[in-house]
Amino acid sequence: MNKKISFIETKEYKRFAEFCDACIKYQYIGICYGLPGVGKTLSSRYYSNWDYIDQHLNYKTAPQVVETVDKKILDHQIVFYTAPAVRATRMTGDIERIAAKLNMVKTMYRVKTFGAEEKYSHNHFENISLIIVDEVDRLKMQGLEQLRDIYDQHELAIIFVGMPGIEKRLSRYPQLYSRIGFAHEFDRLSKDEAHHILEYKWHELGLSVRLEDFSDYEAISNIIRITNGNFRLIHRLFAQIERILEINNLQSISLDVVNAARDSLTLGIK
Ligand SMILES: Nc1ncnc2c1ncn2[C@@H]1O[C@H](COP(=O)(O)OP(=O)(O)OP(=O)(O)O)[C@@H](O)[C@H]1O
Ligand SMILES: [Mg+2]
Repeated sequence: MNKKISFIETKEYKRFAEFCDACIKYQYIGICYGLPGVGKTLSSRYYSNWDYIDQHLNYKTAPQVVETVDKKILDHQIVFYTAPAVRATRMTGDIERIAAKLNMVKTMYRVKTFGAEEKYSHNHFENISLIIVDEVDRLKMQGLEQLRDIYDQHELAIIFVGMPGIEKRLSRYPQLYSRIGFAHEFDRLSKDEAHHILEYKWHELGLSVRLEDFSDYEAISNIIRITNGNFRLIHRLFAQIERILEINNLQSISLDVVNAARDSLTLGIK
């Protein structure tokens, strides 16, 4: 399978982006919840341009920064953070370090490019407008309290990303819950959109199969039914389809191939 997967700006992504914009605008805490595999993490990383930012946070020297970083980094005000699976005791420090690195890179860029004064703020969150915290389900009371503390002390928004049910769990912490401005459900792809993506956006999905490879329309409909708008399942099902085509030396995707692929997927099909 061709591994180069592009991000597809789906309707759900656009709704998510609007939700993030609103949280920033009103400096709220927002909750975003959705089933596994619908695209919460990828959308959060895409919205925060995190693949790009993350790889530029560890440069050591100012010349390196200027050589490799785009000017757009100066406008960047979002931190993406994944809650740790164990020991969340030092979360505040971890998030602060990310913000500090971002500020450092920006300052180096300004100093080198515009001859600005080399000035580092002690408040690392000064130029941060949003922190997105993924995998919030992992956090216990103490971790959540740390986030509330960051929120209370700085002028920024925080978005909690997790599984359905976090909104109920958080309601058990009244102090935190009273600060939540918006809740947003990240839904799966609609049938129509899944259809559209399968028909017109093959390449962006990183798949090497093409529409012509289907021997009948029913096979496409079956894929849509099996995957039920779940991005991760679409990718996994196609990985199996490609494997089955290859080992059986087949050229076209028939209903039988799709069913065999479905049967070889062990998990995740509801
Ligand atoms: N907009 C998108 N464009 C292309 N592929 C996508 C998109 N959204 C999700 N995917 C695919 O679906 C997979 C699962 O997405 P992601 O990890 O973001 O799900 P999630 O909602 O965070 O799941 P979990 O709750 O298990 O963490 C991704 O690895 C990617 O292959
Ligand atoms: Mg995720």
